[in-house]
Amino acid sequence: MGGWLEDTGNWLLPWVRRGAERARWLLVCCWLTAPWVFSQDQASGSAETTALHTPPPASAFAGDAACASCHEKEAAEYLLSPHHLDSAAATAKTILGNFTPGKNVVRTGNPELIFAMIAAKDGFFQSAVNIADANNPKGMAERFDIVVGSGRRGQTYLYWKDNALFELPISYWTRTHEWINSPGYPDGEVHFNRPIIPRCLECHATWFEAEGPPNLFARDSMMLGIGCEKCHGPGREHVERERSAHPPAAGSAEVAIVNPARLSHERQMDVCALCHAGVGDPIEPPLSWRPGDVLADYLKITPPPPDQPVDVHGNQVNALERSKCYTSGKLSCSTCHNVHEKQQNVDAFSTHCLGCHEVKACGRYRQMGEAIRTKCVECHMPEGKSQGLHSDTEGQMLRAQLRAHRIAIYPEAGLGR
Ligand code: HEC
Ligand code: HEC
Ligand code: HEC
Ligand code: HEC
Ligand code: HEC
Ligand code: HEC
Ligand code: HEC
Repeated sequence: MGGWLEDTGNWLLPWVRRGAERARWLLVCCWLTAPWVFSQDQASGSAETTALHTPPPASAFAGDAACASCHEKEAAEYLLSPHHLDSAAATAKTILGNFTPGKNVVRTGNPELIFAMIAAKDGFFQSAVNIADANNPKGMAERFDIVVGSGRRGQTYLYWKDNALFELPISYWTRTHEWINSPGYPDGEVHFNRPIIPRCLECHATWFEAEGPPNLFARDSMMLGIGCEKCHGPGREHVERERSAHPPAAGSAEVAIVNPARLSHERQMDVCALCHAGVGDPIEPPLSWRPGDVLADYLKITPPPPDQPVDVHGNQVNALERSKCYTSGKLSCSTCHNVHEKQQNVDAFSTHCLGCHEVKACGRYRQMGEAIRTKCVECHMPEGKSQGLHSDTEGQMLRAQLRAHRIAIYPEAGLGR
């Protein structure tokens, strides 16, 4: 069954694996209040480390606004990027779906059940309505509290029940501008009880304080959106050093912040693999991994078997690793992506191919000549329908379109426009 998160059953593993669940959890809580060890590791000179980290406290973070005050070039576009906008408090601006009567309803495979999206004075609500039961017209309703997804493909919404976080049954699908049944939810049923586990937020937020499995969090702790410090490590100390009377010399490697460009190829890949290599099975508590750490020590990622399409929601890492180009040892996500900017001009990506290949190396050059120069991606990284990311809505199967990240020869792929 497809869903935003396939392996919901596995959330408990990291706690159970190393002994009694309860003891482990207590330990995690102690770690959260323990003195922060990051600066000592960093002071040894290299951001790459084999010592295991524990989740940093909130006080280790400076926040994007602080970074933006000095790094205008990186911040200007980043603040408008899908990463930054990936999660947020639910407001009229962040929720992309339509609340206008007539457009605010999802019919289901069950003729008696509809879902209605309601904008009220005190917030936005999703309501399951039993239209056959006149005595119970309202059914169950919960509030939109948190938005997940900038809306490139869609959005899913979360709600709080005390300090427990759950997924709402209706999501938003950008391509058709419709409300849809949340991915993985059976059509025609009412489910308001899918817990949001820490791993979901590890990929979709910057920081949070987990209070207990499966889905208890400190409500005010959420740092929503994917902030600068997710890829650069907690940055308060860097900010303090740079603002001090004796800031580090210009051009030197900064010890209190991670520049992925200075990491080895593997550790650079890890920075993206935290979120772009599939759900995996956590080994350490969520948020323990930091840029520069060996991801495999924190998360067990099992690549899909070779005969299966690489396709869980967001698994570009495994796909890329299966490309012959990857054998060069030099190809990383940053070869093509500058994550500080929007990545939406497909033709521009061909330039990156030409960093390693000549146009003439392509078998199609002989027939098509220079016309292929800006079209490498359309044939060698064609778009395909996701097997993993789909929604079963009103008897129709909607699938996300994703860009193949296994660079290869796809004889059937053409220019298509
Ligand atoms: C392993 C990391 C990971 C986990 C866990 C994960 N996601 Fe995602 N999610 C991603 C990535 C990466 C993308 C972007 C995928 C892409 O475009 O290829 C994404 C995309 C999405 C989108 C679409 C965003 C958009 O703007 O189009 C939604 C909605 C979403 N995820 C919801 C969830 C929810 C809800 C959960 C937990 C129940 C979850 N995801 C768990 C990594 C993750
Ligand atoms: C999704 C991950 C990610 C996020 C989020 C992110 N960066 Fe980066 N950043 C990188 C990577 C990767 C590099 C190295 C790029 C390369 O290989 O050249 C980098 C490099 C940098 C550099 C060094 C640039 C140079 O010329 O040496 C600065 C400064 C920087 N980022 C600041 C920021 C700031 C400020 C933010 C937030 C507004 C931010 N980054 C958000 C991934 C990220
Ligand atoms: C008070 C100004 C200031 C603030 C605030 C600040 N930085 Fe920096 N940062 C600098 C300076 C100066 C450098 C060194 C630039 C150079 O030497 O070229 C630097 C370097 C960096 C580098 C490159 C380090 C390297 O080893 O190459 C990264 C990445 C970075 N900052 C990210 C961040 C992030 C993320 C934040 C927010 C948490 C942040 N910075 C906040 C001033 C600042
Ligand atoms: C904390 C998890 C996380 C990390 C770390 C991360 N990503 Fe993402 N990335 C996401 C999610 C979630 C989305 C979907 C954002 C949305 O649209 O809501 C995404 C979207 C993207 C996109 C498509 C959106 C766009 O910007 O056009 C690209 C490209 C991308 N990521 C590349 C990278 C690269 C390269 C790295 C490593 C340098 C990286 N990401 C690190 C979670 C992450
Ligand atoms: C960092 C260097 C590098 C980059 C960037 C790169 N490649 Fe490659 N590519 C290679 C290497 C190395 C091989 C393997 C060469 C060989 O087998 O002769 C390869 C092989 C290929 C092949 C043959 C694949 C097969 O399965 O037979 C194709 C097609 C290809 N690349 C296309 C591209 C395209 C298109 C891009 C841009 C989207 C690209 N490459 C970017 C280095 C790179
Ligand atoms: C050889 C170039 C290349 C490399 C290397 C590369 N990408 Fe991409 N990526 C692309 C292109 C081209 C697109 C499509 C951009 C668009 O549609 O606007 C894309 C799109 C994406 C998207 C948006 C989802 C989608 O399917 O449109 C994500 C997420 C992403 N890349 C993540 C990554 C990650 C993570 C890595 C490293 C594992 C990576 N990419 C390496 C070229 C590359
Ligand atoms: C119209 C589709 C199309 C476009 C555009 C295209 N290719 Fe190809 N390419 C192919 C096909 C198909 C092959 C397989 C060989 C053949 O059939 O001639 C191929 C083969 C290759 C090979 C492998 C050659 C070998 O002998 O193993 C490389 C490398 C390559 N292309 C690189 C590129 C680069 C770089 C670009 C952009 C400048 C590009 N291709 C644009 C369709 C295309």
